[in-house]
Amino acid sequence: MIRKPRRMNLLKQIFQSQEQEARRKLMAWIFGHIDLRPEDQVLEIGFGLGALLQMAAKNVTQGKIVGVEISAAMVKAATELNAKAISAGRMEIIEADANNLPYENDHFDKVFALNVVYFWTNLTKTVNELCRIIKPGGIIALYLAPRILLEDMKKYRFGHFAMHEPDDVVKALQQLGFNPIVVEQTESHKGTVHCVIGVQT
Ligand SMILES: C[S@@+](CC[C@H](N)C(=O)[O-])C[C@H]1O[C@@H](n2cnc3c(N)ncnc32)[C@H](O)[C@@H]1O
Repeated sequence: MIRKPRRMNLLKQIFQSQEQEARRKLMAWIFGHIDLRPEDQVLEIGFGLGALLQMAAKNVTQGKIVGVEISAAMVKAATELNAKAISAGRMEIIEADANNLPYENDHFDKVFALNVVYFWTNLTKTVNELCRIIKPGGIIALYLAPRILLEDMKKYRFGHFAMHEPDDVVKALQQLGFNPIVVEQTESHKGTVHCVIGVQT
């Protein structure tokens, strides 16, 4: 009876460190596709709590990282998390819709979004807006979550949700002239994660 809580704590610690290790591996895989350079102009759409923005800031030391989110609550959380990089002028976090970005044409070298495409009512229209602000030769990387997580997102989110497959994203990028387009996948602790990567022509 006395030992049980200790064993539970130990199991909890092991579980947490396994989760952290899995998350670390997944983040390394995610950044592997966008090859962030110190001088890059980078945009993340739908950053949630802003952990990837924080990681990206470690590589982008001379350029700028911009985060765009439609949720005011997420903007607040990510702004707090990234206060240092923001006050150093290396990061900008704004509340906006991916369909209407307040940036000029050909502005960004790398654009990425993790687990966000499902909330876009018209995939091609939103990708078209992203296409507009990516420089020629720039990269877009759109990550799709494991199916088990999507079922959860579908249950708990309000508003539009479409269960896009990697092929739907490939078709949208093809229509807009991205070339080449590559689909990568990896096994995470929650299932298969896909990434569709396209190069702006
Ligand atoms: C499932 S969460 C993913 C958060 C984070 N990328 C992650 O993987 O942990 C989807 C996020 O996309 C944001 N989002 C949805 N539609 C958006 C849009 N049109 N423009 C910008 N952000 C959007 C939501 O507010 C939400 O924070």
